[in-house]
Amino acid sequence: MATSSRPRVPVIAGNWKMHKTRAETREFFAAFLPLVARTSECEIVVAPAFTALADAVAATKDSPVMIAGQDLHWEPQGAFTGEVSAGMLVETGCRAVLIGHSERREHFGETDEMVARKLRAALEAGLRPIVCVGETLGEREGNRTEEILERQFHGAVGALTARDFSPILLAYEPVWAIGTGRTATPELAAEAHGFLRTLVATRFGREVAAATRILYGGSVKPGNIRGLMAQEQIDGALVGGASLEAASFAAIVNFREG
Ligand code: PGA
Repeated sequence: MATSSRPRVPVIAGNWKMHKTRAETREFFAAFLPLVARTSECEIVVAPAFTALADAVAATKDSPVMIAGQDLHWEPQGAFTGEVSAGMLVETGCRAVLIGHSERREHFGETDEMVARKLRAALEAGLRPIVCVGETLGEREGNRTEEILERQFHGAVGALTARDFSPILLAYEPVWAIGTGRTATPELAAEAHGFLRTLVATRFGREVAAATRILYGGSVKPGNIRGLMAQEQIDGALVGGASLEAASFAAIVNFREG
């Protein structure tokens, strides 16, 4: 494969949400890993449900796939029924974790402050955080996209230093594009990514901003990944529905060959 001229190594991440049992997880990786065995210059992340994490870690041992949690609690332990800590994810073999997904914000009342606490806990545990931000349809139509992204970004990073920030991946996920089949156009997504990158530059400096990977999420499919990845501002994708099937997720990972 030709050496790409991309400024940053792309990351394709799958978010399985509340899908797949342990057996289905093993079946997925048995089918998926051979399809990406020759993939280079692309980092692959999969975030299964908590119950399937250990199977996913075992199935992807000695593969380039990094397993991520879909959420975490900020305390290391305690009376928090139903929650899972950063240390528990690390012990299970996770190397990354999603934080602040819009479904958590919308259905489970997750606030910017909670996102900031989770982010700090993930960084302290050595997990690579994938921090999700994005506006709703009403916010976009009300011309509030930048205001929302700014609030969510600053709310999440809080008082972090540039050094703390450097392992973080950002995911721009317009809520109106998630699971709706309505993808943002590559241009529109790139504009939001450019705005996020200026926020990173202002807060942490241009060098950090130039190295930060910003993924796009919202109805990414094999048929639209190439157009999205053609934008220099877009460094990868966070994929929901299309990551559940080995062939479609592999086609997205192998976007250069499509
Ligand atoms: P989708 O989900 O690809 O099914 O739209 C994306 C996400 O929620 O991360």
